[in-house]
Amino acid sequence: MRENTSSRTASQNALFRALDARRGQGHTVAGDTLAERFLPAEFRIVSVASAVPPVRSAVEHFIDWRWPCARGGVVARTRVIDDAVTALLAEASQVVLLGAGFDSRAYRLPGMRTLPVFEVDHPATQAAKRRGLRRAGMLDGQDVRFVPVLFGIDDAGAALKAAGFDPERRTLVIWEGVTNYLSADAVDQTFRLLARMLSAGSSVFFTYVHRGMLDGTTDFEGASTTMRAVSHVGEPFTFGFEPSEIMAYLSERGFEKIWDTSVADAGSGLDKGRHTRLPAYYHLVEARRS
Ligand SMILES: C[S@@+](CC[C@H](N)C(=O)[O-])C[C@H]1O[C@@H](n2cnc3c(N)ncnc32)[C@H](O)[C@@H]1O
Repeated sequence: MRENTSSRTASQNALFRALDARRGQGHTVAGDTLAERFLPAEFRIVSVASAVPPVRSAVEHFIDWRWPCARGGVVARTRVIDDAVTALLAEASQVVLLGAGFDSRAYRLPGMRTLPVFEVDHPATQAAKRRGLRRAGMLDGQDVRFVPVLFGIDDAGAALKAAGFDPERRTLVIWEGVTNYLSADAVDQTFRLLARMLSAGSSVFFTYVHRGMLDGTTDFEGASTTMRAVSHVGEPFTFGFEPSEIMAYLSERGFEKIWDTSVADAGSGLDKGRHTRLPAYYHLVEARRS
């Protein structure tokens, strides 16, 4: 990520979810009606104009041509994680959003609104999010604790504890859309930190890209265009897993793999017959602290 600049890919994700929400009830996949509030001005104009269906259709076609599979992938993965997390919220006593970006779950999912939510993110992205929340009058009223951290550099564990994180409580962690921007060391350090900080039975939902996308050994639809686009905004993909190694990787770090699925598989059928293209290179995992 560029230093001192809010994450562009986090804003793009929020735009994809805002466009999806503009489809309206009964048609939206993720239903993230709050996403629009976090958009920078140039994206907000696009989202507001997309209330007009032909405009939205043109915008979506342009995005899908520029970044094949990315828009549908972000919306589908958010919905799949929402559903999986909602099913577990009743058993959790606190939530951690790692690399939260413009994730609106703390304000959107009923079961999360009553829990302490720790939003851990790059200081610049978090500052932009807080501005959006302040503009919308949403900064106060809920137990959301902002924890600015640079993964791989800052001590995220100490920062979380200082913000009141309780290692004894059952925790639900969401680490969506982040590992692919980090170094292998930063990913490893974060899993080891989570293993130290999470009580048994706590859950971690995380995403990763297939390593074959990065080294070119597997030919995925949309992969090369997406890699060029994220590099262009200064946030290149730097890390991926080989799916066959996930189980052993997690188990060496104190976690059990519950499931691992590609967004293409998990999201098929969610968009009610529109057959939006979804990325086979993007994976979602639920892991549990053993
Ligand atoms: C693509 S966005 C994903 C945001 C959100 N979780 C989502 O799925 O829409 C990547 C997030 O990772 C954060 N991030 C990237 N590199 C980081 C780093 N080294 N330290 C802290 N946060 C980082 C960015 O600030 C951004 O919020």
